[in-house]
Amino acid sequence: MYVCICRAVTNSHIHEAVQGGARTLKDLRRDLGVASDCGRCASCASECLQAACGGAKPGKAKRQAGS
Ligand code: FES
Repeated sequence: MYVCICRAVTNSHIHEAVQGGARTLKDLRRDLGVASDCGRCASCASECLQAACGGAKPGKAKRQAGS
């Protein structure tokens, strides 16, 4: 599925970027150009980023219970 039409970025590209270390929308913009043109894809890209990060909030470290 295309996430960013302007830059022809799909959710697969986002998953690959996450595997390569991307954790924030800023990372996706730098690596793939997401949201760097019209910007309409930003919210969808954030959702895909969150899903690719395993449901964890992107850009935030998971807290360990009891620590
Ligand atoms: S759809 Fe992504 S910048 Fe336009």
